[in-house]
Amino acid sequence: NQAKPWGGVFDGATDARVEAFSESVSYDRRMYQQDIRGSVAHATMLAAVGVLTDDEKNQIIEGLTQIGWEIAAGRFEFKQELEDVHMNIERALVDRIGDVGRKLHTGRSRNDQVSTDFRMWVREAIDGFDLLLADLQRAFVGRAAQDEGVILPGYTHLQRAQPVLAAHYWLAYVEKYQRDRDRLADCRRRVNQLPLGTAAMAGTTIPIDRQMVADDLQFEGLVANSLDSSSDRDFAIEYVSALSLIAVHLSGWAEEWILWSTTEFNFLKLPQAFCTGSSIMPQKINPDVLELTRGKSARVIGSLQSLLVLTKGLPLAYNRDLQEDKERVFDATDTVRMCLELAAPLVAGAELKRESIAERLDRGYLDATTFMEHLIHLGVPQRTAHGIVGKLVGAAMKEGVRLADLPLAAYQEDCPQLDESLYDVLGVEQAVKAFRSVGSTRPEFVAQQVAAWRERLGMN
Ligand code: ARG
Repeated sequence: NQAKPWGGVFDGATDARVEAFSESVSYDRRMYQQDIRGSVAHATMLAAVGVLTDDEKNQIIEGLTQIGWEIAAGRFEFKQELEDVHMNIERALVDRIGDVGRKLHTGRSRNDQVSTDFRMWVREAIDGFDLLLADLQRAFVGRAAQDEGVILPGYTHLQRAQPVLAAHYWLAYVEKYQRDRDRLADCRRRVNQLPLGTAAMAGTTIPIDRQMVADDLQFEGLVANSLDSSSDRDFAIEYVSALSLIAVHLSGWAEEWILWSTTEFNFLKLPQAFCTGSSIMPQKINPDVLELTRGKSARVIGSLQSLLVLTKGLPLAYNRDLQEDKERVFDATDTVRMCLELAAPLVAGAELKRESIAERLDRGYLDATTFMEHLIHLGVPQRTAHGIVGKLVGAAMKEGVRLADLPLAAYQEDCPQLDESLYDVLGVEQAVKAFRSVGSTRPEFVAQQVAAWRERLGMN
């Protein structure tokens, strides 16, 4: 079966069912640019070390470049029987330039070629995510100005807890997405190590110059151990794990905004262009984009799970199982990319319902904790202060009133040092201003952070 690049030792043809079962070209064709770029660098290096003549190198580069154009223009026919994008391109080259093309694969294996292409693909995807995450951060920071002065209830256990500035909420998400960017940048350093030249798993006797290829392809270093290299998919797993965290952050935010846009919360009006309706209930405006963002996190987490299970029992070095990594990485990439592309305009286009929020801010005793801390400032031990305020809240709840509606006598009963000035401390407005700790919702601190983020994200 001379039709296969590996056909020499075989007596007969591959079963067509095996070809269909084992192909990867239907999806790994997405790496054609990386494959061509890697092959050009490899050929350039082979010429530099004297394995190819300059003329041979030029023929190869010209052939590969043309193939690249044809693929880009949709004029290239990928063949399933050639298994993957790598063998499709190499075969097309041989068809074009003849025997010279048969020299391209000198000193390399598909094992290191696949890993090189894949690392370049992931590297580019990471760079794209950095931009998308920054867009989303800018959308949140942009809201901070729009929602200046708005106070929202903060929650623990989804029960009203303490008041916070809306901008404090938005910056909470900005921080999460910054960690996601940092994680991807860190992961990129390990992605960006060149495997090419480790060949099948032991290296090669051909006097190749790996460093030259690394410089050409902008890899930061060389994978040190050939056995490790051909078995290693840590970079893909780390990458999808970073994507999974992004998906989890998006999903939690989506859930929060789904709740906030309900009649029950009534905090938020979603942009209609990002909602859909019901085929039976005429009044419905549903938050489908947010729901799908929440739902699609399942696919991304599933991909991470698949990759971990895929690699967990593999002995060194290359095993064909590894071909199953691409679809999971591609799907996780596409999914998170779509979610981010929609999240930024959705964040920018939503509106806080200021009145509806403000009307109910005095419910839920959001000022109770700051009032307890006021007692601590007056010298009452924390546990005692907690007890006193708890009792006052209990009394207010029975009456169905705010803390500020209780008479001075009720306060002085347990805490005689209190006077009329206590009423200046109560209420969400006072409570927000009373915060002092670094990282708290104190308005000056939040304003400083907004300014710092604007600067950092190039928004000025
Ligand atoms: N199509 C395969 C992949 O993407 C290439 C396999 C190369 N190696 C091998 N020994 N069959 O992983």
